[in-house]
Amino acid sequence: MLRSNIIGTGSYLPAHTLSNHELSKLVDTNNDWIVERTGICSRHIATEETETTVFMGTKAAQNALEMAGLTADKLDLILVATFTPDYIMPNTACQIQAAIHATNAFCFDINAACSGFLYALQTADAYIRSGIYHSILVVGTETISRTIDWQDRSTCILFGDGAGAAILSASHTEKGFLGFLSGSDGSGGMALQLKNRPIKNPCRPTTKDLPDSFPYLSMNGQEVFQFAVRKIPEMVKSITGQNQLSPEDISHYLLHQANLRIIKSVAKRLSLPEERFPVNLSECGNTSAASIPILLDKCYRNSIIQLGSYILLSGFGGGLTWGSALLKL
Ligand code: COA
Repeated sequence: MLRSNIIGTGSYLPAHTLSNHELSKLVDTNNDWIVERTGICSRHIATEETETTVFMGTKAAQNALEMAGLTADKLDLILVATFTPDYIMPNTACQIQAAIHATNAFCFDINAACSGFLYALQTADAYIRSGIYHSILVVGTETISRTIDWQDRSTCILFGDGAGAAILSASHTEKGFLGFLSGSDGSGGMALQLKNRPIKNPCRPTTKDLPDSFPYLSMNGQEVFQFAVRKIPEMVKSITGQNQLSPEDISHYLLHQANLRIIKSVAKRLSLPEERFPVNLSECGNTSAASIPILLDKCYRNSIIQLGSYILLSGFGGGLTWGSALLKL
């Protein structure tokens, strides 16, 4: 059977870190509150003019290509998941293509916020299983720090910058992606939002009160929290059931790194030990579309996940969106 399989992963995190203690000098917060409510201790923040969404995505892509032993000219498709592109046009995938010289690749971006990497993986898998493409680079890369109001304690404590990548290739073995599950609910979308520039043109009668700059990211934290702790266990049960497996058969769950309490609650609802849920949010915070591929890369490179086992990737985010992928290593 033709499947898609991961043959390389990579990641990039900015060298600069911002601790909870440093944040408490900027806004009315403290380390104990942040750790207790989120599990986050620090986050990586892009500080250089050159440390862009494209730059970080390129670094992660180069690491993944190196692990895969593939040259960039062999890539048929580049998919980039991001909601924080450096440019609205050209897209980030085209810019990464130019940076790595993937001259034969077709390139586009996917915006599904924190579920973006899973949506991109599912798209890549469909291209591979249909026989259209053989080798695909999937990147999640974010500079969320540019969208944050650093005076807003309800959001500025949560997010970080970074990038992760995976190379998917056609596989004729039993290894690879066994299934995907994804969904969207636009009716709940305003729980997490980042508005674009307003419509301001000579044909609009009153434009003088409209802001010139982009607004900041805003969120209804509790609504998102409730949605996540309900949706992830639901997806886990469905996708394992569809593949004649039970949640118990999955060796590791790589969940979107948004909040440690969400991850603990999912483990509890599934009656699974927390050790099956690797985390890095303590040092990375929520890096949105980059969160799952950064964690995946850590798990591959540190041999946390083992050949022959089943792993499950699962995420949720703005849109509202959600997605899961079941992988046999
Ligand atoms: N430091 C100290 N106090 C803070 C604070 C901060 N950074 N942020 C909020 N508070 C205060 C609130 O003002 C509130 O005070 P009050 O009781 O006097 O009104 C109190 O802490 C509780 O706030 P609340 O919003 O109810 O906290 P919470 O337990 O829901 O935790 C989040 C807030 C954001 C950590 C939590 O809702 C969350 O993680 N939600 C999911 C967000 C998410 O994952 N987003 C991305 C999805 S991809």
